Amino acid sequence: MSEKLWNGRFSEGTDKLVERFTASISYDRRLYAWDIEGSIAHCSMLADTGVITPDEAAELVRGLTQVRREIEAGEFIYDDSLEDIHMHVESRLLAIVGKAAQKLHTGRSRNDQVALDIRMFLRAETLGIIAALRRLREMVVSLAEAHLGAVMPGYTHLQRAQPVLLSHHLMAYYEMFTRDGERFGDALKRINVLPLGAAALAGTTYPIDRDNTARRLHFPRVSENSMDTVGDRDFALEFTAAASICMMHFSRLSEELILWSSAEFGFVEIADAFTTGSSIMPQKKNPDVCELVRGKTGRVYGDLMALLTLMKSLPMAYNRDMQEDKEPLFDAVDTLKMTLEVYTRMLPNITFKIDAMARATTTGFLDATDMADYLATRGMPFREAHHVVGRAVGAALARGRELHDLSLSELKAFSGLIEEDIFSFLSVRQMVDRRKSHGGTATDTVRSAMMNARRALIAESDDGSGVGD
Ligand code: ARG
Repeated sequence: MSEKLWNGRFSEGTDKLVERFTASISYDRRLYAWDIEGSIAHCSMLADTGVITPDEAAELVRGLTQVRREIEAGEFIYDDSLEDIHMHVESRLLAIVGKAAQKLHTGRSRNDQVALDIRMFLRAETLGIIAALRRLREMVVSLAEAHLGAVMPGYTHLQRAQPVLLSHHLMAYYEMFTRDGERFGDALKRINVLPLGAAALAGTTYPIDRDNTARRLHFPRVSENSMDTVGDRDFALEFTAAASICMMHFSRLSEELILWSSAEFGFVEIADAFTTGSSIMPQKKNPDVCELVRGKTGRVYGDLMALLTLMKSLPMAYNRDMQEDKEPLFDAVDTLKMTLEVYTRMLPNITFKIDAMARATTTGFLDATDMADYLATRGMPFREAHHVVGRAVGAALARGRELHDLSLSELKAFSGLIEEDIFSFLSVRQMVDRRKSHGGTATDTVRSAMMNARRALIAESDDGSGVGD
């Protein structure tokens, strides 16, 4: 239907099916604002360097601004025959400003243009994600602060291991989400590089000024090798890898909340607004949000695999395969953003049943390690102490009791080193608070971890370091 901008050498029109097959406009239209902003910067640079006249540049800017207005007003007409967003904007520009539009593409190619659009899109999204992660981390610290003192079993192999503070458990997620923020900040360094000026693959004969364009578009640096520039999607891979790791953290948290909200654990209750019912079983209250986050994690991994596979056999430099980068990338961005949003809303709507958690610390021999420590601090070699307590555990199990249910004389049968003070030594509070090693679960240690987290969050909001370079 529309006249192609590249059809000079063609004598036949494109097959309709091929048009549909090659078009990316249904999804890359999402990049319109970046495409237009990039074009405005490009033509302003062309005027600064004398490649086009200031009047021509003014015409182009006027036309591009009108195209943006039309798109935002929903008046813009999309058509598969124009392939992608770049062609759509340029062809509409031609209709608005006439011949001057033909100068816009001077010293540029769609290959560096599309790289620019994706980089600008991803830069904005990454900044938003880092900020959202910061809000989530704040929420996690608030929960940890609000529950300081509450105890629960800590697990290894999903078997009760040693008592820990609920706040300590929650702060483990603070660490994960902090690393995620750092990873996105690091990816941002390589996203935030101007590709424009690489042209099709070899650079351009026009006297362009890439630093000028970079300044206009707030890129701290310009890319080096022009062939690498149009053939590079590492930055998108890094983003999606960081998104995959972040989703993996959300998936682990989701898994715990699903387990904890089961009758078997009974450690949390998720508010009605964040759960759903069953169409057949009236008693059900299902943690669907958590389950879906766990499920959507697989989808983001899929996006990463799609991108890695897309790139793995491409010869230099640009190849049309790379048009397939957008849908996985958009999907990873959208899925992660939704997950961040829904989790930040859901977390304060979770009730931790601290009595049930505390009760759970009293069974399952969470004091066995400490009893061995007790003997070891009284002179018994740790290996021997481990063995003695193992026998005590076996004997208690046989009687259907816990270590701390045994009487002093029963305990003494295992070692004469045991005295009355064993009972306070094995109290959950003392067991927790003795673990004062850096990063341990003692109340004082966790309190200072939370204070450090608060300080880090404040510093990030003050200097903007939480939102990248
Ligand atoms: N729609 C294309 C993409 O997303 C733009 C670049 C196309 N370049 C080309 N020479 N056909 O990758």
